[in-house]
Amino acid sequence: MIVRTMCPKDIAEVAEVEKIAWGPLAASKETIAQRSAVFEKGSIVVIEKGQVVGYAASQLTDHISTKSWDAQTDCGQIAQSHRPEGAIAYGVSMSARPGVSGKGVAHHVIDAYTKMYLGGGCRAMCVGSRVPGFVKWIRHNQDGNLTDYVVPQTDGRFRDPELRLYAANGFNLLWDMPDYFPDEKSAGHGAMMIRTQM
Ligand SMILES: CC(C)(COP(=O)(O)OP(=O)(O)OC[C@H]1O[C@@H](n2cnc3c(N)ncnc32)[C@H](O)[C@@H]1OP(=O)(O)O)[C@@H](O)C(=O)NCCC(=O)NCCS
Repeated sequence: MIVRTMCPKDIAEVAEVEKIAWGPLAASKETIAQRSAVFEKGSIVVIEKGQVVGYAASQLTDHISTKSWDAQTDCGQIAQSHRPEGAIAYGVSMSARPGVSGKGVAHHVIDAYTKMYLGGGCRAMCVGSRVPGFVKWIRHNQDGNLTDYVVPQTDGRFRDPELRLYAANGFNLLWDMPDYFPDEKSAGHGAMMIRTQM
């Protein structure tokens, strides 16, 4: 598995991976190119057997926010939200082809970003996670709410599969974020996750 900065020749394949992972919410070729034009180092690809199997985009910021993904990322375009002097890295998007062997795309992406950002002097890496288990959980826990849902259980494990993925890669919960991203299974909500240690 190779992880490297995205080049213009990768864009068509990256758009394919985005479509598979995100369906109608996938980033277009123009958006993928735009993110790289604003902050080249922030866009990376994961390659397996010569094929793009993963893509991630990130930006730098100078604060951590509770606002929606659209507000925090300039609707995913990053032109108005990337701060070249910022000391906090923020995950804009990540996508993978299903069934990638070994440790999976997320592990390789987060490992590469950790070396680049925390190893390069950033104070923290943040990501706004969706909470795709929330709608199912709230159906059976009608007295509960988003804050209850995102807090780790007594055994330390998160209820949500996407939060568990970030926790398995060194992230901790900062706060829940109502109306973060229009994902049906999350009822539009999310949670801010942070990693500060190599
Ligand atoms: C998130 C993603 C990049 C991870 O890819 P990967 O590292 O190759 O690994 P997998 O897809 O096998 O997922 C790893 C684990 O995370 C869980 N997970 C991650 N995102 C999830 C989601 N949105 N819903 C449910 N489970 C999710 C999986 O169930 C899996 O759990 P398991 O190991 O217990 O089976 C990929 O699943 C993807 O492209 N998802 C759609 C887009 C997305 O949610 N991006 C992340 C937010 S920006």
